[in-house]
Amino acid sequence: MKDSDLQAVVDSYTWFHSMQFRPNVASSGPKSQAVLVDEAEAFFGPLALHGHSVLDVGAWNGFFSFESKRRGAGRVLATDSYTWNHPLYRGRGALELARSALGLDVETREVAPHELGKHLGLFDVTLFLGVFYHLINPIPVLFSLREVTHRLLILETHQDALNTIHPMMAFYPGATLNGDGTNWWGPNPTLMYHLLTEAGFERVPYRDHPICSATSLYPHRRGVYHAFTSADTSRLEKPGGYGNWLDLSIEANRSSLVTQV
Ligand SMILES: C[S@@+](CC[C@H](N)C(=O)[O-])C[C@H]1O[C@@H](n2cnc3c(N)ncnc32)[C@H](O)[C@@H]1O
Repeated sequence: MKDSDLQAVVDSYTWFHSMQFRPNVASSGPKSQAVLVDEAEAFFGPLALHGHSVLDVGAWNGFFSFESKRRGAGRVLATDSYTWNHPLYRGRGALELARSALGLDVETREVAPHELGKHLGLFDVTLFLGVFYHLINPIPVLFSLREVTHRLLILETHQDALNTIHPMMAFYPGATLNGDGTNWWGPNPTLMYHLLTEAGFERVPYRDHPICSATSLYPHRRGVYHAFTSADTSRLEKPGGYGNWLDLSIEANRSSLVTQV
């Protein structure tokens, strides 16, 4: 297909992820290519994904599924429901167009977060990026995520209640967070640590999202959690990869988050 024809098909979709398909063909969405590169490094930098299976929950246009594959992952399954069926976003069609343009072997399956469970099988790494706060009832989903995660859950979320070390989350009625009626919750790191360990994860290194500032796409502080199970991760973790991450099991680290607000 000619570049101009492919670009016309790309432009017929409304994108979230900005991706380069050919030197002169790209999608353009609110997440720029530069932001996605920074996010991918924050999410995957400490890891050697080679050969590991990956489940992407809430994949939308699939950038992080594709990035997992580019970083050597084995089986990759991209799942979503809300934006895939949304008449404006038509996210599954966009992901499948991107997949064919990139020539990457990523499976797709329609699964909403509350439909996760053992029937999907076990994945070495599960991605749950930008989804937690969209769910009005997110806590059972953390337990379901544990059921499908063999080694590591990577969770990224909007956050709030950052001026306290007490485990809390803020509730946003209606469309009171960013005018988006699908935004419900802003948890703080202490809460996420306790919820993830209650759900069966053992160790939870934390870091701030790489691009949160007053002028960024995400003006509020977002957080990145790597929630490990007790399974062997010696082939998954790069030596020294977590040097700059916080260990939230240490009270002093949760207190230090307060002074950064
Ligand atoms: C902010 S996007 C994140 C997309 C991608 N994971 C990323 O990090 O770039 C939120 C995703 O959550 C999914 N989602 C799942 N359940 C949802 C719900 N109840 N309301 C809104 N979005 C939901 C959407 O379909 C969408 O793909």
